[in-house]
Amino acid sequence: MAHISSLAMVFLLCVASSYAVNTVDVNTICKGVKNPSFCVTLLDSKPGENRDLVSLGLYTIDVTLANTTNTITLINMLISKSGGDAQAKHHYDRCLLHFNGIAAMLKQTPDFMKRGEYDTALQDAVGVRSHVRVCVSEDSDPHHPFYDSSELPIYANSVDQVAEVFAAILNHLNTPI
Ligand SMILES: *[C@@H]1O[C@H](CO)[C@@H](O)[C@H](O)[C@H]1NC(C)=O
Repeated sequence: MAHISSLAMVFLLCVASSYAVNTVDVNTICKGVKNPSFCVTLLDSKPGENRDLVSLGLYTIDVTLANTTNTITLINMLISKSGGDAQAKHHYDRCLLHFNGIAAMLKQTPDFMKRGEYDTALQDAVGVRSHVRVCVSEDSDPHHPFYDSSELPIYANSVDQVAEVFAAILNHLNTPI
């Protein structure tokens, strides 16, 4: 009996420590990203007590979604102001599709986090970044040399930067087998 309960105790300690591991220093999370000081500032700005990886991840999803909503508002404004400029309208219409796709994806990502499906959440982070890249990179397409002088590239870069931080957090979380 005593033997069984000590085994149970070891098991519980293992479970407890596998949860405790989910806290990683912010500087460690931010080491590999393009702009580490942006990453540290962002994660330090998370309100509330919880600083475990899942809480930080959920926070970066919220910020990415807020940035995406602002970007969609900007794109709608740019479309309404594009007037007779067919090339500009085409560009912004395409970007709107990409950012609507990002918003739809990010609304599901918190559920993957809560279920521990971190691989799927990482696919969302990668998906967000590739949607942003495709929207912005149309500018450098030699067949459509449209130069976007609006604020859209800056807004898009915000979304990409926060999504990169989210991906960096997920790199410290493994989906249980
Ligand atoms: C994105 O969110 C960050 C952090 O809240 C904010 O500083 C930045 O201005 C936002 N950018 C856009 C384009 O909404």
